[in-house]
Amino acid sequence: MIGTADGVAISITGLGSRVPEKVVTNDDLSTMMDTNDEWIVERTGIRERRIAGPEEALSDLCLPAAQEALKDAGVEASEIDLIIVATVTPDMVFPSTGAILADQLGASDAAAYDLSAGCTGFMYAIAQAYGMLAGGLAHKALVVGGDVLSKIMDWTDRSTAVLFGDGAGAVVMERVAEGGFLGFELGADGSGGPQLYIPGGGSRTPASEESVAERLHFVKMNGREVFKFATRVLVSSAETVLAECGRTIEDVDVYVPHQANVRIISHAVEKLGIPEDRVVIDVDRYGNTSSGSIPLALADARKDGRLDAGRLVLMTGMGAGLTWGSGLIEWTDGGSR
Ligand code: ACO
Repeated sequence: MIGTADGVAISITGLGSRVPEKVVTNDDLSTMMDTNDEWIVERTGIRERRIAGPEEALSDLCLPAAQEALKDAGVEASEIDLIIVATVTPDMVFPSTGAILADQLGASDAAAYDLSAGCTGFMYAIAQAYGMLAGGLAHKALVVGGDVLSKIMDWTDRSTAVLFGDGAGAVVMERVAEGGFLGFELGADGSGGPQLYIPGGGSRTPASEESVAERLHFVKMNGREVFKFATRVLVSSAETVLAECGRTIEDVDVYVPHQANVRIISHAVEKLGIPEDRVVIDVDRYGNTSSGSIPLALADARKDGRLDAGRLVLMTGMGAGLTWGSGLIEWTDGGSR
């Protein structure tokens, strides 16, 4: 799917984020499994990640992130008429974390639901919110991307457990006078599904004593295949959305790739030919936070003073599905403020 914004200016007008308090370093992990700081840093660039406590669920991260985004936008929760939570780790299968969040915020007029597109979830969710806002179906949207992947990690599997972390980011989206989203490109290749998946717990393999014994409720990943896929789509999706929007990589001021692995990001940076000082990287501090990755990186970029109004920001995500998605936005100062 590919499309450009035709005449309707819609932007991100508020940003918020939240990660759990607990920091787990590579050295901490090396006391739990056969791994070490040198291997993890060399292969992934990750130095530490945040891990939720036993009582902490997704909505516990989404709520403060959402409240910060609403405050930033100067929008009351009661004004929000659309809430989308992109995640693969909802509080529970149902009700949706979107509905739980709407209740916690007091957004009683909002349509609220979850969206599942692996680590690409946030990109799918902002594209969907864009479409609903542009079509006049919604007026002020709250989009949250977040995951608590530590809850679905197999902590006996060093090939996956060291890669991920927990976190959430939220954005408010609404119409603005000018600027905002220029276009999106989204895609999915379901034939690659078995490269990154959780086999148990759905209607194909419901929870049973056997599924638990076989550890089917944890993330399984073919790292090398996902690596190849990720390096390919980060480049192709970015080039496609830029071409569709009539822009080039030279026009991009801030590049926010999915934070899975520094090696994957470096490959894309080299192939795209974007200067390194325009690239946002925080995977060293958070690991791969899945749907939280891009909004967390946006929040970091803004804290660093990199998201001034008028800057062209390119975001690309990829993940389970296999899925990918890019969005191009001319950053704005805010809508309701
Ligand atoms: N610590 C120490 N050694 C390890 C670890 C570890 N944590 N994990 C694997 N190894 C060992 C392997 O057993 C293997 O040992 P062997 O040679 O004796 O067999 C060796 O390290 C090399 O393993 P490889 O899998 O070949 O290592 P590779 O260089 O491919 O790196 C990695 C693995 C980091 C997982 C890489 O393939 C990768 O980044 N893939 C992409 C993963 C990813 O980003 N997934 C998520 C993207 S989508 C989303 O965000 C949901």
